[in-house]
This record gives sequence, C-alpha cells and structure tokens, in this order.
Amino acid sequence: MEKPVYYAPTDYGDYAFSVAAAAVKFGAGVLVELGGDAKSLGLKRVALFMDPKVRNTEPAAVAEKSLKEAGVDYVIYDEIKIEPTDRSFMEAAKFATEGNFDGFVSLGGGSTMDTAKAANLYSTHPADFLAYVNLPYGEFRPAPGPLKPHIACPTTSGTGSETTSTAVMDIVDLKVKTAISQKLMKPTLALVDPTTAETMPGGVVAASGFDVLTHAIESYTARPYTTRARPATPDQRPVFQGANPYSDTSSLQAISLGGKFLVRAVKDPSDVEARHMLMLAATTAGLSFGNAGVHLPHAMSYGVAGLCHTLVADGYEDDNPMVPHGIACILNAPAAFRFCAPACPERHLEAAAALGADVRNADPEHGGKLLTDKLIEMMRETGLPNGTGALGFTEDDIPELTKRGYNQPRLLILAPREVTEQDVADMYRDGLKYW
Ligand SMILES: [Fe+2]
Repeated sequence: MEKPVYYAPTDYGDYAFSVAAAAVKFGAGVLVELGGDAKSLGLKRVALFMDPKVRNTEPAAVAEKSLKEAGVDYVIYDEIKIEPTDRSFMEAAKFATEGNFDGFVSLGGGSTMDTAKAANLYSTHPADFLAYVNLPYGEFRPAPGPLKPHIACPTTSGTGSETTSTAVMDIVDLKVKTAISQKLMKPTLALVDPTTAETMPGGVVAASGFDVLTHAIESYTARPYTTRARPATPDQRPVFQGANPYSDTSSLQAISLGGKFLVRAVKDPSDVEARHMLMLAATTAGLSFGNAGVHLPHAMSYGVAGLCHTLVADGYEDDNPMVPHGIACILNAPAAFRFCAPACPERHLEAAAALGADVRNADPEHGGKLLTDKLIEMMRETGLPNGTGALGFTEDDIPELTKRGYNQPRLLILAPREVTEQDVADMYRDGLKYW
C-alpha cells in the first residue's frame, strides 16, 4: 500500500508551519555553565526558582556556586506547588515583582519551570490572572511584549517544559486544570544536565517517562497542520499548530529513545545511560510537542487528575494525594490511540515501530493495535496501574470525567479525527481496565 501524503495541501487549511526553536544546551555536568550563560544574557540579578526538594541537593549547590562565581546576584524562591495553581502562580509573580529582577533561572521539574514562566509573564506584563489563560477559561490575550530572559534547568526527565511556551496549572475555584500558552513565554535557554535527574525515584521516572512518550506519540499522530484552519493574521497561528515535518523528526527520535530506555531506567536506578537518554528524550519531545501540540491523552488526563485525589503514587509520598501528570496521561493513552488510529493508521504503525514493536509484515491498519499493545506491555513491565479503574474510577465517574476531558477544545482540535462528547465517554470507559 502506498503511504498517504500526510501534509497534502488543502484549500481551507494552513499553508505554513513555524518552528519556534528553543536554544538547548545538553550534557552531563553542564549545569556548571549556568553562571556564565546568565552573564552572557546580561543578567546581574536573577530570581532563582527552585523545587524545595532540590534546594538541599548537589544540583542546587552547583547552580548557586556557578552564579556566584560569575558575579550574578540571586534570590531563591522555593514555594513551588507540585501541581501549581492560579494562586501559587500569582504568589510567585508577586515575589518576582517585588524582587526587581532582570531575569529568571528555574531548577526543578515542570512545576518549577512553569511557575518561573508564569512569574516572568505576570511580573513583566501585569494583568488579571485570566487575561493570559487559554480559552475557554481565560481570555487568551497575547503578552504585549518580550519577557525577561529565563534559563530553565530541568531536574526530572519528563515535562519538556524547558523548551515549551506552556505553563500548566489548576484554577482552584473552578476545579479545573488548564494552561497558559504564550509564544513569548518559552525559556531563553534550556540548560539540560542529565546528572541532575540521577536520584529520581523509580516511580517518578516511570510517571515522567510516560509523559515523555505521550508527548511524542501525540505530536506524531496529531492532525496535520495543513488541515487546521488558516489563521487570519500571522500572529494568530497557534503555538500548538498540528503535526508538521519539523516536529515529526523530534517526535520519532523521542519515541525511539523512550522505547529503548524507559523500562530500563525505571527498573534499574543505577542505569545511568538509560536515565541520561530519557532526559534527552524529554527535551526532544518538548521540541516536538512545543511546535505540534498534544491531543486526546492529555485532554483526558485533565479529567483524571482533577477528579481523583486519593492516589499516592510511588515516589510522591511526601506530596498530597494526587495522580502524577504522566500517569494520568498514559492511563488514557491506549484508549485514545485505539480511537485515533483509523484516521492515520500508518502513523500509528510508524510510532509502534519507533517504540520497538515488531512490525514486520504488519499492515498499516494494525498500527493502532501494535502501538497500544506495546504501550500496555511497557505499563505492565513498569508496574503501572491497570487503567483508571485501578485508581478507583468506576462507570459512575464517566459523566464527570467526560465533562472535564471534553472541555479542552485547544487539545481536542488536534486529534487526527473529529471527537464527540460520546467518543470521549467511550474512551474513558475503555481506559478503566486494560488487562
Ligand atoms: Fe505532559
């Protein structure tokens, strides 16, 4: 069968894609260059956002020493909420406003980097919280000008937030999880030192590693940018613009790295190569979904994370009960990819092959099954819950989950086929149990 052209021009859709390339520096031990990088950006006094769990660790000491040696003054902010909220973002913005900084450094996981992005945005261009928040909860107003330089240094191999323009948070009063996506919020430099993630517990590696895989597979299977409506003006082309030839390269690379190294990294904490390569996968997947976008598993994760507050996951014992983001995504992923596969079976087959599934002699029409079977095999090998049912969700939760999952138009629009509310309900039902 001849492979269909995924980017065939249309007379209604977009004719261009843009590459918002992030500056990335990656290498074992490269955190020692933080001070020099800050100095090169002209920074003299920075807000140093730090995960409280990172504050008394070796990476924190390295970062502080490097800033000191470069003569860059800094003030630490470590009141980072693991699942940030509108309130925690605004408190961080208040700190940033009062501190009168000329730039930002973040050292931690996605929550830390996202909090620094939001603090940068609201302290540089003050506005009501909802002004910059994505539709339908906020006004999605573009930031009126550039933000201050931000060097993002991830210490977990998951979110890829160091290369994206997005910050995710809960709006407490509305009990919803949503995001701020602003092109100008992308960090100036992603400084990625994989040695900083060597002490992550296996459970955290699993949760964040599956977040990486869903980023990459969702980007690769997202609708082609040529079928998304053409923007009225260039600045209205969205950050999440659909799959495109640029994002494809990094998506496949990240899927392949995840397929090779995720299970190894979870099972053997001393497997330094696997952990370092997973860190590279996270950054690479950030480059892909930061330009293409994610779709159903992420949209549906917001329902699971928002409703369930009973799980204390491995590696997250010190936190309030919650479903880690990567777990909330992967538990919906097989159901979502089964639904999406008929729209672009060959893409699902290519993703399955990149992940390491045996696709010899396979027809593209089996792509969805091969991909989801491989994902489920990896979930079982890493001790993940058997679907959302294992977290206590039942048939009775489907209506509320569906309401929340379906209320993510920014993500649903990127699925490779049209999605109805009933489809979302059916996928949540399919995701209750996998084996
Ligand atoms: Fe994610």
